[in-house]
Amino acid sequence: MSTPSISLLYRKVTELQAHTPWGKVLDAGTGLGSMRWLHSIDSSSWTAITGAESMARQITRAPFFQARAQDRLLTDNWMNPSLLEGEQFDTVLADYLLGAIEGFAPYWQDQLFPRLRQLTRGTLYVIGLNPYVPYDADDEAGKLVTEIGRLRDACLLLANERPYREYPLEWVLRQLRLANFTPVEVQQFSIRYGANFVNGQLDMCATRTQRFSDRGLAIAFTEHIAELRQRALNYVAQEGGLRHGFDYVIQATA
Ligand SMILES: C[S@@+](CC[C@H](N)C(=O)[O-])C[C@H]1O[C@@H](n2cnc3c(N)ncnc32)[C@H](O)[C@@H]1O
Repeated sequence: MSTPSISLLYRKVTELQAHTPWGKVLDAGTGLGSMRWLHSIDSSSWTAITGAESMARQITRAPFFQARAQDRLLTDNWMNPSLLEGEQFDTVLADYLLGAIEGFAPYWQDQLFPRLRQLTRGTLYVIGLNPYVPYDADDEAGKLVTEIGRLRDACLLLANERPYREYPLEWVLRQLRLANFTPVEVQQFSIRYGANFVNGQLDMCATRTQRFSDRGLAIAFTEHIAELRQRALNYVAQEGGLRHGFDYVIQATA
């Protein structure tokens, strides 16, 4: 994902909130992007959750990071029933959280929105990526993006890691209703992937090949990664990017 489209998604959340006060805000799956956004809004307090110590360290070391006395950055797992037990928030953000759940709480995705519903007394915003890896694309840009996604996930699996599992917009809307949220607004944002995406994803593949137990396979993957990188970067240079798929922003009330 290219950074400009991420900031566009946060801007959309701010726009949808309009003049409603943010109040007590929960960033249910934090990262550098959503933490930066949290700093840009006028909350009475924020609470940010990550499942990874490494993410918490990265955030607290970021030059922009500041926490007031009432703000909290917590490392925990949503599967833990005592996490924020009995608390309520006016605004909750689930930003690329659903897709990442697989790495921290595999096959628990159906429990996420009921869990967040207990904590929401106002508005939930969900930002997500419509899945593309398991679907065949019908144009060259889409085929390249899909090929990169499939190679990335294969490398992660062969290196004993769990890839992200994204969910379609319709699935999320269904789950929100089942959890007693009312979706009130949905927006889709087409994605144009650039050289940063190609290099970032294929660099991730390259580091994972070092952990393959079959070294012959690792060499074959290394050659394939280099060839795909060249093809994808050539396309980006000629066409200005790889247009494929979309992100979504959902606004839902409790
Ligand atoms: C892809 S990152 C989020 C992106 C982020 N909002 C940003 O600014 O780019 C996903 C976040 O959700 C957290 N997460 C995923 N599953 C979790 C779980 N079961 N419990 C707690 N945190 C979880 C991850 O640790 C990480 O902080």
